[in-house]
Amino acid sequence: MRLSVIGCGYLGAVHAAAMASVGHEVVGIDVDEAKVRSLAEGVAPFFEPGLQEILSEGIDSGRLSFTTDVAAAKGAQVHFIAVGTPQSKDSYAADLTYVNAAADALLPHLSDGDVVAGKSTVPVGTAAALASRIEQTGATLVWNPEFLREGWAVKDTIDPDRLVVGTESGAAGERAADILREVYHPAVTKGTPYIVTDLATAELVKVAANAFLATKISFINAMAEIAEVTGADVTQLADAIGHDERIGRRFLGAGIGFGGGCLPKDIRAFSARAEELGRGESVAFLREVDAINLRRRDRAIQLVIDALGGSVFKRNITVLGAAFKPHSDDIRDSPALHAAVQLRGLGAWVTVTDPAALDNARRLHPQLNYVDDRDEALRQADAVLVVTEWDEYRRQLDPVHAASLTAGKVVVDGRNCLGSTAWREAGWAYYGMGRR
Ligand code: UDX
Repeated sequence: MRLSVIGCGYLGAVHAAAMASVGHEVVGIDVDEAKVRSLAEGVAPFFEPGLQEILSEGIDSGRLSFTTDVAAAKGAQVHFIAVGTPQSKDSYAADLTYVNAAADALLPHLSDGDVVAGKSTVPVGTAAALASRIEQTGATLVWNPEFLREGWAVKDTIDPDRLVVGTESGAAGERAADILREVYHPAVTKGTPYIVTDLATAELVKVAANAFLATKISFINAMAEIAEVTGADVTQLADAIGHDERIGRRFLGAGIGFGGGCLPKDIRAFSARAEELGRGESVAFLREVDAINLRRRDRAIQLVIDALGGSVFKRNITVLGAAFKPHSDDIRDSPALHAAVQLRGLGAWVTVTDPAALDNARRLHPQLNYVDDRDEALRQADAVLVVTEWDEYRRQLDPVHAASLTAGKVVVDGRNCLGSTAWREAGWAYYGMGRR
């Protein structure tokens, strides 16, 4: 099938390449000329495992192309809107400028019977507001939220946990849901649940899922706060409660908290939308989820200060990690970089290393010292702060070897990802988050 994808960021570029990889003919459209040039040459403009391979294959096969010209969308049967919905500059609400601009740009190129499928995460009610404009062209709007995780985006797009398609009631909506089923045919035939619902439910499924995940993380981080004043160990607590299948161990990783381009802004946008709807109190807990999350960043910084005897001024601190999570170069709202910047602000000499995110970090925070080589970054450190649980730090960094490089033997494990016993045995003062 012929598809267009408007917006070629972390979501859209992966979606376009993944759809080409399952046999569709796809054009990706973005206003960013540099990004489009890179994609059109078959070079992934950001780090996402597996993207480079499917991108090159798609371009070589002739099924995948990229352009800045939205007119290229004409002739596609399904048009995916995959642009960003960042937090507004002056409030918690989502900024819908790019969604509206994408829809406006697409309108003149839509034909009768086309399907426009919104993938962006939007406040509930956005699709209903867009639908009448889209439908004037004879096209049908559906909402088809995306649940991909960065670092696993290719797998999550080709082989998702579930597919959700929200439509308006009536024959056009049913037809559009059938067309989307055809788009996702390979996943659907494998038995992936395909949930057809209304527009509002589809929009809400996405924000509810992210709100739940954020709540789960902040719940365990709240337990970490209690563990810190009681001498308990939050990792053992998480293991123990995680054995209960109703609770489950995943997303109970206590540490410096969640960041990235989705969870933080999505829970804020959800709060803002609920307030607009007169139901602010229904999700008032999300404010607390956000507050707990931000407190954990302060806690990690405080642990470093305390471990260095009350001040980090002119002390050498090596920060292991810059990305908001491993297997990604995304530094949006990264707790790792937040900690690095704060420590620098307190007068520390901060050196940051990361296997993938250094170029992005350098552009955003030029005041920090960046070193590509992990061992080089560790040299002469008075304290080490681990904030992104890359295997390079979690599994491959031998504490005995690390101790031979650093000046001090203080390690703050902001992700509770190191083997504390091995680090202590190697002579390190080990500090975890919510751990003894
Ligand atoms: C999230 C959702 O998981 C995904 O379904 C949605 O489509 C987009 O938002 P993503 O932002 O890629 O995906 O990252 P995710 O794996 O959810 O992690 C988010 C943050 O939470 C990261 O900073 C991660 O380090 C942190 N996290 C995750 C924890 O602090 N503890 C955990 O136990 C799990």
